[in-house]
Amino acid sequence: MGLWSKKSLTLLISEAEGHGGEPSLKRTLGAMNLTLLGIGAIIGAGIFVLTGTAAAQYAGPAIVLSFILAGLACGFAGLCYAEFASMIPIAGSAYTYGYATLGELVAWIIGWDLILEYLFAASTVSVGWSGYFTEFMASLGVHIPHQFTSAPFSVEGTHTLVRSMLCVDPATQKLVTGACDLSQYTQVAGVLNVPAVVLIGLITTLLVIGIQESATLNNIAVFIKLAIVALVIGFGFLYVNSANWHPFIPPGTGEFGKFGLSGIVRGAGVIFFAYIGFDAVSTAAQEARNPQRDLPIGILASLAICTVLYILMALVMTGLAPYQELNVPHPVFVAIEKAGPPLRWLTYLINIGAIAGLASVVLVMLLGQPRIFYSMSRDGLLPPIFGKVHPRFQTPYISTIITGTVAALIGGLFPIGLLGELVSIGTLLAFVIVSAGVLVLRYRSPDLHRPFKTPLVPLVPVLSILFCGYLMYGLPADTWLRLLIWMALGLVIYFAFGKKNSKLAKAEA
Ligand code: ALA
Repeated sequence: MGLWSKKSLTLLISEAEGHGGEPSLKRTLGAMNLTLLGIGAIIGAGIFVLTGTAAAQYAGPAIVLSFILAGLACGFAGLCYAEFASMIPIAGSAYTYGYATLGELVAWIIGWDLILEYLFAASTVSVGWSGYFTEFMASLGVHIPHQFTSAPFSVEGTHTLVRSMLCVDPATQKLVTGACDLSQYTQVAGVLNVPAVVLIGLITTLLVIGIQESATLNNIAVFIKLAIVALVIGFGFLYVNSANWHPFIPPGTGEFGKFGLSGIVRGAGVIFFAYIGFDAVSTAAQEARNPQRDLPIGILASLAICTVLYILMALVMTGLAPYQELNVPHPVFVAIEKAGPPLRWLTYLINIGAIAGLASVVLVMLLGQPRIFYSMSRDGLLPPIFGKVHPRFQTPYISTIITGTVAALIGGLFPIGLLGELVSIGTLLAFVIVSAGVLVLRYRSPDLHRPFKTPLVPLVPVLSILFCGYLMYGLPADTWLRLLIWMALGLVIYFAFGKKNSKLAKAEA
């Protein structure tokens, strides 16, 4: 009882229909908007930044195979999400699926874990966005002082936070990496990542104003980034030097994860980040006009489109430049530069693609998080304030503002190195639990109406658990430790607040 109490599907659906006189969320999104939301959340820092690092350090041109591997893991998980999303079209996503199948404690654990995926991803990507934006402004002759584009803290070793000191070349005003020779360079202390904070502030305001307005801006950003990705793939292929693809799988160095087959696996763990976001479609369930049909379409179509684009993009990048040269923060730019003057025009557009692309990731993540809080609050596991819906805008405005404030603080004050892998491990954990949930519910309630059915059960959910579990296994021990600390904190909050205030527990008593 209590910890293991489950919410019945009938109760879930009736609550979602907004009984009780409270304003409810506004149903305006169709299949197209939902698919674009998925693409909005998916294509971002992963493809624009991590592909190069992962190819250069772990997999070489075989990073293409890493993309296929991570794409398969997400495909299996996506099929499981689609079954739940069609069956339980509630804003809480995996949290709600957990509540219906595995009980309140597991639901809380997933809900708490999803903060890593949504809120922390928004902060992480806002910092990546700030980098591209600052670079873009500099190319227009507007130089934002470095202390206002950097967090005041950085990480030393694996987890010691220290004051962030930046080394600047006084002649060019560019940042210098490595040891700072104070006879040649000047040093400034990071104060706040202002562009990251401003971006989150603007997006939060938009999200408060309306779901349709937010979706429209997302559609524009997605259109820009898709167009630029398509141009990079189309024109890039014309200038590929196929010698760069040989050897396609560089021989392993003997150390696990450094090239060879193990490098492909390690690479998949790193670029998994690029796929995160398709499940965000399910958080808009209560704003979808026909969720049972359109959520599975949104989840699976966005994932399929991005998988194909990623594989082509990885092929083009490793075909244009020797993989060793892609270990930079802007690998797409470096790859296209290799084509020389004929593609110079495209290098200018890449920055714009990244700025639009990363902004839409932040938008969808900041859209998803408050909707999960909203569901948790409606269940009594978070204070009622998180469930407040704006009477006119029909958005969960208080939880949107709380999410935006915390995300801005994290993005403005902390280095991203600390967060990226935490986002991945948190997301993978949610995928594993959702896939297990599909198995449990098929076994326990085989006759429920499932508008979309995961094919080949139990094979697909089992493969999802194995693939995602394996990718988690490949992440560093420090990341695991941070996950455990985060989860322990979550349990303390649950026993101190959620368990006592759970509406289900009160109804059962
Ligand atoms: N998939 C998102 C990105 O790569 C989180 O930025």
